[in-house]
Amino acid sequence: MEDNSQPSQPGAPPGAGRPAAAVTAQPCAIVIFGATGDLTARKLLPAIYNLTREGLLSPSTVVIGFARRPKTDDQFRREMLEAVNRFSRNKPIDPAVWGDLCARTYYHQSTFEDIAGYRKLAERLAAMDRRHHTGGRRLYYLATSPTEFNMIVDRLGEAGLGNIDPFSAKAWRRVIVEKPFGRDLQTARELNAHINRVFDESQVFRIDHYLGKQTVQNLLVFRFANGIFEPVWNRRYVDHVQITVAETIGVEGRGGYFETAGTLRDMVQNHLMQLLTLIAMEPPVSLEGDAIRDEKVRVLKAIPAYNVEEALRYTLRGQYTAGVIDGAPVIGYHEERGVAADSAMETYAALELFINNWRWQGVPFYLRSGKRLRQQGSEVSIHFNAAPGVLFNAPGKALSRNVLTLRIQPREGIALLINAQKPGTLTRIAPVHMDFEYHQAFGSYSPEAYERLLLDAILGDSTLFIRRDEVESAWAIIDKIEGAWTTGAAPLALYQPGEWGPAEAHDLLARNGRVWDQLGTDPQYEI
Ligand code: BG6
Repeated sequence: MEDNSQPSQPGAPPGAGRPAAAVTAQPCAIVIFGATGDLTARKLLPAIYNLTREGLLSPSTVVIGFARRPKTDDQFRREMLEAVNRFSRNKPIDPAVWGDLCARTYYHQSTFEDIAGYRKLAERLAAMDRRHHTGGRRLYYLATSPTEFNMIVDRLGEAGLGNIDPFSAKAWRRVIVEKPFGRDLQTARELNAHINRVFDESQVFRIDHYLGKQTVQNLLVFRFANGIFEPVWNRRYVDHVQITVAETIGVEGRGGYFETAGTLRDMVQNHLMQLLTLIAMEPPVSLEGDAIRDEKVRVLKAIPAYNVEEALRYTLRGQYTAGVIDGAPVIGYHEERGVAADSAMETYAALELFINNWRWQGVPFYLRSGKRLRQQGSEVSIHFNAAPGVLFNAPGKALSRNVLTLRIQPREGIALLINAQKPGTLTRIAPVHMDFEYHQAFGSYSPEAYERLLLDAILGDSTLFIRRDEVESAWAIIDKIEGAWTTGAAPLALYQPGEWGPAEAHDLLARNGRVWDQLGTDPQYEI
């Protein structure tokens, strides 16, 4: 097959366009705070194992689990092996790879408050530098509850483990922060200011795992590596855009957390807003992290924050009741552990947003996300203006729009809906899909989001991480909606599990003659 890849430019920065294996990871110590938690077992250790297996990490990389519970190195290693066995995408585990990684995996017991624990950590890290040649390079992963973030960052600073010259070529210190980054604009600002007292912004890597998904990264490649779409990617040709992140699961034992978050904070402020910025942004001047993030922030700043009246008109919240999903009975949100019996927290949110800039003015972006919906799936669809139906003698009937669907998951791929002549002697038109599926074209290799993101943080590439101003601009939009919802005037629309959310969500689009995509079903129009 012809290889059309471009040779890399002299001086080209790293970033989403980084050529495969062009940069090698330096040896470093990864310190995971909250090492006995779910995220470490399910995502982080399996990701480190798979990166090691692929030869993408230096063979001198050290992993230190930091947590409260007393445990020996060996106990921790055994638990991590169990986790990797259970959650790794590559099975069975290669004993040689694990054996090698395991010998460089340690446990450090301390509470998050105790400064003595951090001083001992500093001593251990210095010893690792001598033993494994990690050269003062540290990646701190805050895999804890957000209530611990400030404390950990403060203590790292006090123990001399925080900021050093961020441009130092040899030693570096970086911190990965898991969401939620605050629960509104005010708390996000406070958290950012707190972290920036100890770590320079260039050392802060805020994770949104959606950006680690291959199909999300492909949004940029799709838009900017193909010549035919960009000319029609604007208000002259696009009728509207839909972004859906639907789940069939409920809150899965996380009722306590969900009561403080809800779908707007848990999903929309981060994952859906990220998808929206990638779809709507202008072409960046380069693939360098800040060039891309500058454009994403411009999109967020062009979205007007709603007043109460607008928020009530353009947004909707819902909550699932008890019911049946896939033939099995499920409890309602109110019955979930940790949820108040009269909770008005939303498990579904739908929004109609506008981007007031030259490219998008007047084009609605419909966003929705919910739990216990009919089908699991994340996708973005661009609905183009319909062609005039006049030639086909179909008075009163519109031709169906061309729809470009970018499937993030599952069945990762891209589909274009076009109108075609149905076989027969009469001119009958039916919409059909041109469909591309990743795994058919490229096979099944698809690294987990956390693999890509951990590797990028070690390489110092912040392209796929959220910058401070991005987080704050997204909160400015969300806060206004939250504010309107909590005035008490916003109805909470109930929905049955296994439906596509509350019936009222239909009206949000129907008032302008549009309908929500039915994920995974073929279009029904025909003239
Ligand atoms: C997380 C949310 O960020 O994303 C969860 O906290 C949600 O509530 C999850 O289930 C969805 O991620 P994915 O990758 O399964 O679509």
